[in-house]
Amino acid sequence: MKDLVRMRTSIAEEMHQLLNEQIKIEATASAKYLAMASWCAEQGFSYSEAYFMEQAQEEREHMIKFFKYINDAGGRAISAEVTNIPHEFESLRDVFETALEQEIGVTHSIYKLVEAARKNRDYITEHFLQWFIQEQMEEEVNARRAVQLFEIIGDDTGLGLYQIDKAIRKVRETE
Ligand SMILES: [Fe+2]
Ligand SMILES: [Fe+2]
Repeated sequence: MKDLVRMRTSIAEEMHQLLNEQIKIEATASAKYLAMASWCAEQGFSYSEAYFMEQAQEEREHMIKFFKYINDAGGRAISAEVTNIPHEFESLRDVFETALEQEIGVTHSIYKLVEAARKNRDYITEHFLQWFIQEQMEEEVNARRAVQLFEIIGDDTGLGLYQIDKAIRKVRETE
């Protein structure tokens, strides 16, 4: 009886490890976005601040999804240690370019997970990851759109930066 109650799914060790790494990646992304929100707040870019606060929240939700998935699959989700978060940026453009780079990096880590799931014939994890593939596409589109504003509007004047910040508000509205 006890064995039935404690029935665990057979999550491969490699998957267990990679999924836990993804918890850390999402937690780090959330912490980095918080730092970006702080920088924007300090510089008076309030729409960008709001954008990054929301991004930070989403990354936390991603982290929780992986956390719950590992535990539901009979593994042990590890609460990640997150350190060395950069708080200094050269400019608003630098913040958004860093954000885009970060999203591209996360997309690659999701692809790596999908490949490992296929290799391990872990079809349920592969299925679970489909949501994240779609989500990453949307996240990259938003981040690219934000970076493009710097070219479209021009960030070499205070007025340009003011307009870019205002336009950031609309980046997510088109989702
Ligand atoms: Fe994420
Ligand atoms: Fe993201």
